[in-house]
Amino acid sequence: MDFTFDLNALFPERVSVLDNNLTAGRKAPGRPDPQIQIATVIDELGKASAKAQQLPAPITSAAKLQANRHHLYLLKDGEQNGGRAVVVGFLKVGCKKLFLLDQQGAHVETEPLCVLDFYIKETLQRHGYGLELFDFMLKHKQVEPGQMAYDRPSAKFLSFLDKHYDLKNSVPQVNNFVVFSGFFKSRSAAQLRKVPPKKPEGEIKPYSLMERDVVRKEQRSLPLPFVRPAAPPPSPPLLLSSPQSRSLSVGSSPSHGPLRPTALPGLQPRPSLSSQLNENCREKRTSSLNRFRLSFH
Ligand code: ACO
Repeated sequence: MDFTFDLNALFPERVSVLDNNLTAGRKAPGRPDPQIQIATVIDELGKASAKAQQLPAPITSAAKLQANRHHLYLLKDGEQNGGRAVVVGFLKVGCKKLFLLDQQGAHVETEPLCVLDFYIKETLQRHGYGLELFDFMLKHKQVEPGQMAYDRPSAKFLSFLDKHYDLKNSVPQVNNFVVFSGFFKSRSAAQLRKVPPKKPEGEIKPYSLMERDVVRKEQRSLPLPFVRPAAPPPSPPLLLSSPQSRSLSVGSSPSHGPLRPTALPGLQPRPSLSSQLNENCREKRTSSLNRFRLSFH
């Protein structure tokens, strides 16, 4: 994943927050529009993440980011590559309407912020970069890890959540989203709408369209010459990674990344924001719909 262009010029901050506009800073006068280069970086990261997770196709690409109301946090190390920087990894989040089962097994409709894709370059895993990126996102979104839902987390990611945020006990779901035991406690009744019990079971769709499943369906619906063999099934949750995947990592990661920033410029804490989570998701939908444009080619 080497890029010929200067990543420090493209991504001025250590962590860039990208949305459907695909911009990471102000356009410098006299320089070409950075959108195409940013799109190239996102596409390459998406491919690398899919490969690392053995997905049949990327769930992250520039086109998908433009077409959705997601946020992509991109981490660079500006010192590397002779001062031209390297991309370390990314984290993609977005709100999803989900039908979940609470601890009593009742169907609940909710719209949490979800982790949709997360990737740190193989050679840089277990160095604390994932934690740095995840912590940045938590501050930016003003959310606690236990209030989020996780779209089919890998074994490595489950281990990460356990280690750094003590998230261990997931509440069983019939879909592949994972939520942890505090998820239902931390939300008020107004934020969680119980699905009326009189509805026959068959009418309730206790799932949301997952990015990962969409990818699989897209693959299946390809015309015959393009149909690729199905990917191996994802590792069951809570299993440890294979020795091979572990060997790609170096040592054991520190609790805090070595390059963890001391302050997050421009991120001001907001009052009682954890309770605003669902509202945030709805607000963002309205505002980003207004901003929504598909100008990228
Ligand atoms: N095997 C097992 N656990 C791992 C591994 C590994 N190879 N790599 C990271 N972890 C977990 C462990 O808990 C580790 O702690 P330890 O070293 O003491 O065992 C901890 O993460 C390390 O924390 P960080 O260094 O901050 O995490 P890292 O920078 O490695 O990023 C991530 C974590 C994003 C999961 C990274 O390992 C990765 O990119 N993995 C491959 C892609 C992937 O599985 N992404 C998640 C997809 S699921 C989704 O996005 C919803």
